[in-house]
Amino acid sequence: MKRSDFSADFLWGAATAAYQIEGAALEDGRSACIWDQFATIPGATRDGHSGAVACDHYHRLDEDLDLLQALGVNTYRFSISWSRVMPSGQATLNPAGVAFYNRLIDGLLARGIQPAATLYHWDLPQQLQDQGGWVARDSVAWFEAYAKAMFDCFADRVKIWFTHNEPWVVAWAGHYIGRHAPGMTDLNAAVRVTHHLNLSHAHAVAAYRQHPQGNGKIGAVLNLYPMVPASEAAEDHAAARRADGYHNRLFLDPVLLGNYPADTAAILAQANAALPIEAGDLAALAAARSDFLGVNYYFRKVVLAGDAHPVFRFAETKPPGAPYTAMDWEVWPDGLVDLLRRLRTDYGDMPILITENGAAFADETIIGDVVQDEDRREFVATHLEAALRAVHEGIPLQGYYYWSLLDNFEWAHGYHKRFGLFRVDYATQKRSWKSSGQWYRDFLRSPAKD
Ligand code: FCB
Repeated sequence: MKRSDFSADFLWGAATAAYQIEGAALEDGRSACIWDQFATIPGATRDGHSGAVACDHYHRLDEDLDLLQALGVNTYRFSISWSRVMPSGQATLNPAGVAFYNRLIDGLLARGIQPAATLYHWDLPQQLQDQGGWVARDSVAWFEAYAKAMFDCFADRVKIWFTHNEPWVVAWAGHYIGRHAPGMTDLNAAVRVTHHLNLSHAHAVAAYRQHPQGNGKIGAVLNLYPMVPASEAAEDHAAARRADGYHNRLFLDPVLLGNYPADTAAILAQANAALPIEAGDLAALAAARSDFLGVNYYFRKVVLAGDAHPVFRFAETKPPGAPYTAMDWEVWPDGLVDLLRRLRTDYGDMPILITENGAAFADETIIGDVVQDEDRREFVATHLEAALRAVHEGIPLQGYYYWSLLDNFEWAHGYHKRFGLFRVDYATQKRSWKSSGQWYRDFLRSPAKD
């Protein structure tokens, strides 16, 4: 496999998110976000870690831009910290926060790297959480106003926009499971958040279409899983279908088809947690045309009937003997092709960007200054081979962003899980190459297609 096996304009990138790398949590006018707050709850994150300092990217911007250039990517996916650019969450912009992203965007462009901005990667301003957060219907208007303000500031130079990152995680890990900020465990709240995220995506897309600088591309980023029934039994197939509704279709259908999956909506209604759809909402969903779908692919789910999930009545099992990452996620490159094929079958020829794919490993062997992460190199290479198979089948896959550029704050796992192509020594903030990063660099250095 060579770079020239892919189209000349294929997007090759790496991804990060603001809260996971920036640090400078309360500097230059930034206000707290829900993760700053959540991390203060004893036991919420491993060892009480937070993103207060993270990779100190806020102060090391130029150095990190140079790493991107050395890696040879042609695009970079970052997220904007809402509470840095708009500390109250509404209306008033913080000039220092906006200036930081101007430096980032201009620094990328000066290095020939296309900026790709995520509007929401899980860091709601705490002040908006105090007014009900995503559970409140007002959140749709808050997000739309924030999105418009970001288009005003940056849409002249940023031509790739992502609305929400992994809304399933925000809604369900954040409001039902309680593993993520804001740490709620309330089914009705999770369902309301689901709809408000989907609707706010649609409103942001509509705002982009009307924006004078809105001549780039915009779409959502979903975490999607191939759902594999654990056996041939009809009950396991039915459970896998329910799990698919819960994890995948609850977001895919509103974003791409403009409605909700009837089977999944019915399960929620039976649990006294019907989607809070108001007049005009479905029309708004249907009117929002995405330019692409961002797909975060990490692993498949093997599903059987069971009550581990009390509402959707399924359980998961881990195939024994399979390779697993440090997150205990199965390494399953074929799942990427399965997923892309399924998307084409069920949702048509929507252009696709792999907006995240990557792996945490122990990274214990360091020779000289270079982390010897053969496991990660193989992970990337085999997933790119899977991506190439999809391209050969005519699936309109247009880009790949490795997660992540740097080791960083992995949410509830704190700094214990390392996903980077570059190692970060958190005591000194020194960055160093991993052999996976060198492999990606060499792959990107090989000639592109004519
Ligand atoms: C995804 C998130 C990203 C990172 C990776 C490992 O779910 O979008 O921020 O945590 O997982």
